[in-house]
Amino acid sequence: MVAIKNPMLLEIPDSFQSERLIIRAPRAGDGAAVNEAVRESLDNLRPWMPWADHEPELEESEESVRRGAARWILREDLWLLLFRKSDGLYVGGSGLHRMDWSVPSFEIGYWVRKSLEGQGYVTEAVKAITDIAFMAVSAERVEIRCDTRNERSAAVAKRAGYMLEATLHHDGRDPNGDLRDTYIFGMTQRQYLIHKGVEITE
Ligand SMILES: CC(C)(COP(=O)(O)OP(=O)(O)OC[C@H]1O[C@@H](n2cnc3c(N)ncnc32)[C@H](O)[C@@H]1OP(=O)(O)O)[C@@H](O)C(=O)NCCC(=O)NCCS
Repeated sequence: MVAIKNPMLLEIPDSFQSERLIIRAPRAGDGAAVNEAVRESLDNLRPWMPWADHEPELEESEESVRRGAARWILREDLWLLLFRKSDGLYVGGSGLHRMDWSVPSFEIGYWVRKSLEGQGYVTEAVKAITDIAFMAVSAERVEIRCDTRNERSAAVAKRAGYMLEATLHHDGRDPNGDLRDTYIFGMTQRQYLIHKGVEITE
């Protein structure tokens, strides 16, 4: 694999499925679903997600999905919305962020609406997005970062097969202004193929 010189020309599936989820890029009109789920989940999100510091207005959520759709096309950020297949309910957000196309490498982020926590939707989504990153986008590396106190998030990374590579000490501050530590979980393409049981010959 090689560095991707012009990511705009890369064909990236903007909608795909896992067992229980439709996972797709944001579109105009998604704002209401996102707004409702964020409002329901603010208490859970606030300690860990810097953007969850206020109750968003509907217009703000709609602007944000439209901006997300634009950034997707520009390959600046690949935000992905998770919808439950059975009833179309918006489950939460994920995506491939902080990309470096010269590697290429990405960071997967995620959150789930409060009423659907503890049902395995996020692990399912992270596994499917990991497949897309390595198989469709030629990633050489994918990482997941979380606050060391965020046990549920670290558990998702481990369940999805990511290895703890490093702990950064006092690399930022939490919403209360206290210093925080960050876990970095990573997966290389080689580790991904081994995880998938693909035989590697060199
Ligand atoms: C971090 C966060 C996304 C984890 O969500 P989650 O619901 O715990 O994760 P999953 O959807 O993978 O569900 C895992 C749980 O479902 C259970 N589960 C049920 N069915 C399952 C299945 N088919 N597959 C996997 N797990 C399943 C697991 O046993 C686990 O249960 P436990 O909580 O008792 O250990 C969620 O807590 C959240 O949104 N937090 C706020 C935002 C945040 O912190 N984001 C991460 C920032 S780094």
